[in-house]
Amino acid sequence: MAYHIEELISEEKVNARIKEIGEQVSRDYAGKTVHLICVLKGGSFFMTELAKRISCNVSLDFMSVSSYGSDTKSSGIVKIVKDLDESINGKDVLVVEDIVDSGRTLSYLLAMLKDRGPASIRLCTLLDKPDRRVKEVKVDYTGFEIPDEFVVGYGLDYDQLYRNLPYIGIVKFDD
Ligand code: IMP
Ligand code: MG
Repeated sequence: MAYHIEELISEEKVNARIKEIGEQVSRDYAGKTVHLICVLKGGSFFMTELAKRISCNVSLDFMSVSSYGSDTKSSGIVKIVKDLDESINGKDVLVVEDIVDSGRTLSYLLAMLKDRGPASIRLCTLLDKPDRRVKEVKVDYTGFEIPDEFVVGYGLDYDQLYRNLPYIGIVKFDD
C-alpha cells in the first residue's frame, strides 16, 4: 500500500524539548547519578540526545524486549530479548522509551525492574499517545503528547525503516 510521511514535530522542536527535559532531569537528580535504561531499539536516539543534555552524573544500560504472540498481547507479557548488563540494585533508574502507546510494555517492564531493588525508578518517554492507553502507566517526563496516529522518526520505525529521521512524522496511507 502506498504511503507518505507527513511532518508532525520538526527537528528543531524535538531538539528544544529534549534540551528542556535534560535540564529538568539535571535539577531532579542533582548530586546523584542517574542510571538511564534505554529500551531498544526505539529509545536509542532519544536516550543519547537526552544524556548529552543532562549535567549530573549519568550511567547507562540497554535492554531489548518483544511482545509474545498477538494472542497473548492482552496479557501484556513481554519477552526479554536482551537483559541489562549491570544490576540496578540501589540505583536511581530512569527508563527511557520512544513512545507509550497501550502502556502494556512499560507497565510490565517497570514492575519487573522494581523487583530488582532500584533506589528509585522513573519513566521518561519522548512521545505519549494517551488516547490509546489500556494499562495505566505513570509517566514522569513526557516530550510530547500526540494524537492516535502511527508515527516514525527519532528512533520509531515502520517495518524497521525511518528510525533515522531527525523529526517525527505521521505515516499517511494513500487511497
Ligand atoms: P505499548 O503499546 O505501549 O506497549 O507500546 C509498544 C511499542 O509499540 C512501543 O514501544 C513502540 O515500539 C511501538 N509503537 C507504538 N506506537 C507506535 C507508533 O506510532 N510508531 C512506531 N512504533 C510504535
Ligand atoms: Mg519501543
